[in-house]
Amino acid sequence: MTGRSSFLIVANRLPVDRTIEPDGTASWRRSPGGLVTAIAPVMQRRHGAWAGWHGAPNEKLAPFEQDGMNLIPVPLSGREVELYYEGFSNATLWPLYHDVVAPPIFDREMWETYRAVNERFANAAADAAEKGAVVWVQDYQLQLVPAMLRRLRPDLRIGFFLHIPFPPTELFWRLPWRKDLVEGLLGADLVGFQLPGGASNFRRLCRRLLGLPYKGNEIFLDDRVVTTQAFPISVDFGQLDSLVRDPQIMARAKEIRVELGDPEHVLLGVDRLDYTKGIGQRLEAFGELLKDGRLAPNEAVFVQIATPSRERVEEYKRLRDDIELQVGRINGEHAQLGYQPVQYFHQSYDHAELAALYLAADVMVVTPLRDGMNLVAKEYVSCHHDLHGALVLSEFAGAADELRQAYLVNPYDVEDVKRQMLAAMRATPHELARRMRTMRRRVATYDVDRWASEFLNALETPASQTSTRRSASWRSG
Ligand code: ADP
Ligand code: F6P
Repeated sequence: MTGRSSFLIVANRLPVDRTIEPDGTASWRRSPGGLVTAIAPVMQRRHGAWAGWHGAPNEKLAPFEQDGMNLIPVPLSGREVELYYEGFSNATLWPLYHDVVAPPIFDREMWETYRAVNERFANAAADAAEKGAVVWVQDYQLQLVPAMLRRLRPDLRIGFFLHIPFPPTELFWRLPWRKDLVEGLLGADLVGFQLPGGASNFRRLCRRLLGLPYKGNEIFLDDRVVTTQAFPISVDFGQLDSLVRDPQIMARAKEIRVELGDPEHVLLGVDRLDYTKGIGQRLEAFGELLKDGRLAPNEAVFVQIATPSRERVEEYKRLRDDIELQVGRINGEHAQLGYQPVQYFHQSYDHAELAALYLAADVMVVTPLRDGMNLVAKEYVSCHHDLHGALVLSEFAGAADELRQAYLVNPYDVEDVKRQMLAAMRATPHELARRMRTMRRRVATYDVDRWASEFLNALETPASQTSTRRSASWRSG
């Protein structure tokens, strides 16, 4: 790759990870998570560049091209992976922003490393962007980049999108570095959130922490205006919809049901193995349905796919042990020869196999304790042109704002989860079709392309330049 780009994505990860095989050979594989799922198709359609870490420590790589994308690897040392990625990003910010479902760690060395790594990403972006370029910075790992980049390159148009929830002021206030993070984000022209609640949490915080006035979506700085807005992220509906119409995928879906022993109901969970996802809560509900006798033996199989994630972080290690123990207990108590009620896979799957699994499942169970959006829920809906299938969805997932026809649950209420799982299994085809049709209409309309184009249109349309802080005659909105 040569030259600079007029459109640049900056994210912690590149869309591909470099993995070293046991025999020492290196290969590339798609990186996990919703961010890559959403941005990769957008990037393939626009000709830009993507700066991010390539997933392996202590390795410097030259820019390269892959699947029609120009990729700029940003190196991280082993120690930086520990302190910036596993540490400040995933042991401090991740739990804090997800309603403190695990205790966040506040550590000064982690913070210093986070700052230094953000500086490196900002430098990489400043080098790669042509004059006046649009730079779109992604997610909580890089919250300082917008301000750092603006200092280096005031000519750029800078957007930031937060893929995870933005917490209420009372939680954010605990952060010893709260002011630095907010000032970092305010370097952007547009700060995007999944839901309107996240955007208003941020505006209120700016007023309380920095005394900045706002009106509507706009926050007024001395010399510029920062727009804050919700853009609910989505999936490539069209691509998934046509994938599941492929006869090979349909045949594979049928085969999966046979391999599972052809039960009356196939329930499915697909997540990164993360403590925010409520995997334990849904397994508990399923186990109790078997125990109570409300599900007959052999009537239902629960397939839980849990992609390995952040495996060196303490909380994630503990979670894996807990889930595997729980799966073992349920199967120990309820399995019969030839029947295992929970089928658990700690593995990653390719697109086609995942689509066949979605198609094979009668009930998709998505029960996060807190989730910015949850693309798995939208992927499931995109795969059911047959109008069969029910979605059990946590009220605490961003997707619940749009997918109101799901069987909505409070994941903290095990009786509620049991009731809604049963209701989903017992619903008539007519009821399922009614709900699925409305949800599909929503995801088909607000797909990932619409998400990206709405964000980029808003970014490329400057906010009311005249209404700076000095010209604002009031203090708050
Ligand atoms: P998060 O961003 O927190 O991981 P999302 O539900 O928004 O959660 O996105 C997860 C993405 O990762 C989805 O696109 C989903 O298809 C993908 N994914 C999850 N589990 C697997 C798996 N086992 N194999 C392959 N892809 C997976
Ligand atoms: O969507 C949230 C997110 O944290 C992304 O930023 C990230 O790429 C993805 O989940 C997967 O997490 P990780 O990159 O830590 O494996």
